[in-house]
Amino acid sequence: MDSASHFLTADHRACDARWLAVEGAAHAGNAAAATGAWTLFAGAMERHFAFEEEVLFPALDHATGMHGAGPTAVMRHEHAQMRRLLATMAAAVAQGAWDTLMDQGDTLLLLIGQHNLKEEHILYPLADARLASDWPGLAARWPVSD
Ligand SMILES: [Fe+2]
Repeated sequence: MDSASHFLTADHRACDARWLAVEGAAHAGNAAAATGAWTLFAGAMERHFAFEEEVLFPALDHATGMHGAGPTAVMRHEHAQMRRLLATMAAAVAQGAWDTLMDQGDTLLLLIGQHNLKEEHILYPLADARLASDWPGLAARWPVSD
């Protein structure tokens, strides 16, 4: 896609949709489908985090001269917080503890909502402004999607 904000905002929505698939299968009592949907969701989240941490944030730090301070440091901290929760959720999936997973999912959605708002309204517009000509090269480093 033509800009960091379009591409990464669309990926936020794709991750949201994958969580809805987990919820739907869990509510339907379909453990196999819920487990499969979880694997896709967790993979999508990690792909998004990894691209930002390894590609977007370093490029942005370089372009702005912030070098790991400022907004990207806050975003990395929030990713770590979400990864911890995702690890706990993976344990719930492994145990078939779907009610627990849904409760943890409510907390995760709050974290994701707050985090995505900051990225979509502050960080991605900054990336569009500072990395516009670099974006095609950065986007080419997006990992192969499943
Ligand atoms: Fe992020």
